[in-house]
Amino acid sequence: MSLAIETKNIAKTNSQNGTIVSAASQKYGILARPKLEYTDEIARITAPLYQKVKSVIPAAEWPIYAPLIYAINKLKAERGAVILAHNYMTPEIFHCVADFTGDSLQLAIEAANCGANIIIQGGVHFMAETSKILAPHKTILIPDAKAGCSLAASITVDDIAKLRAKHPGVPVVTYVNTSAAVKAVTDICCTSSNVLQVIESFGTDEVICIPDEHLANNVAKQTKVKIITFKGYCEVHDQFTAKEINDFRQQDPELTVIAHPECPPSVVDVADFSGSTKAMIDFVKINRPKKVMMVTECSMSDNVAAEVDDVEFIRPCNLCPHMKRITLDGILNSLLYLKDEVHVDPKISILAKGAVERIIALNKAQPQQISRNN
Ligand code: 13P
Ligand code: SF4
Repeated sequence: MSLAIETKNIAKTNSQNGTIVSAASQKYGILARPKLEYTDEIARITAPLYQKVKSVIPAAEWPIYAPLIYAINKLKAERGAVILAHNYMTPEIFHCVADFTGDSLQLAIEAANCGANIIIQGGVHFMAETSKILAPHKTILIPDAKAGCSLAASITVDDIAKLRAKHPGVPVVTYVNTSAAVKAVTDICCTSSNVLQVIESFGTDEVICIPDEHLANNVAKQTKVKIITFKGYCEVHDQFTAKEINDFRQQDPELTVIAHPECPPSVVDVADFSGSTKAMIDFVKINRPKKVMMVTECSMSDNVAAEVDDVEFIRPCNLCPHMKRITLDGILNSLLYLKDEVHVDPKISILAKGAVERIIALNKAQPQQISRNN
């Protein structure tokens, strides 16, 4: 039986006017939508923010973003809310309204640690669910509850039960890109920043690592532990090919290539470095390659390019359609109407919390070293 947990905008119909009212909006109240005009005052107030993103956002587009950015930052302060933005958010979100940015692990830790009672997740649904698991008493909002993930959709509780039956006693390591129900039946979670550390933490000869087959096969090359895999894929990273990378390298032998470990092993094999989104960003900021190709979701190159002007970015990238559901307009609506509120069944949440907290404890004990090719 599948214990499917879905984001529910726990809502009831307002008998007065027939509108749908969420539990969070009943608690905190909804606000009126402000006028969104690009006035001289808004241009002046948002000018320092435009300076941060001017290399990646054309001046002609700024009058569309600026009123939304101004309204979001004002309402965020009024609500006492915090915006967590994944590294794949677009630059106007990442650099202009986010309070915390990072990879999956960093955002999960921040959700638990930050003082705010209202958190807006700039990321996909499994990230918002992970925040809710770690901070069950907080109001977790996702601007678009349909922002899913091909990896999270690839595996069910039944699949884990079948794997356990086939490999009795073998520990199950589950990538954080999964539903709360799947996390609840796993032994420990991992992210791309600590998968090797997590796999080796058991001291066993074998580990089941699900659902991303590429991530599992990439880490298998770095350990003696036998990795049992599952056929799940990130629809964004799975599209990259070694031929594509090699063609770029041939045109430009000085090119530095860094790849996310959700890419096929043949791609990671021809890269100079592989690591989580945070590790990829750190690599560029520290090493300052003359020309770099970040083999991952498109917005990440934009976000780093806005900060480092001495690095040239070569961009064969793929967009994540789920991440791109999160927009400034959606964030503004979350702040105004407290939607879409994320709920996780408390019984499932307690079990899933154990699996997520175990990675955070491991991370504290020994910060992860990221794999480097060659
Ligand atoms: P990290 O940010 O943890 O590297 O994960 C990437 C990802 O797949 C997010 O969708
Ligand atoms: Fe999922 Fe891939 Fe999109 Fe990340 S980039 S949310 S793993 S589909």
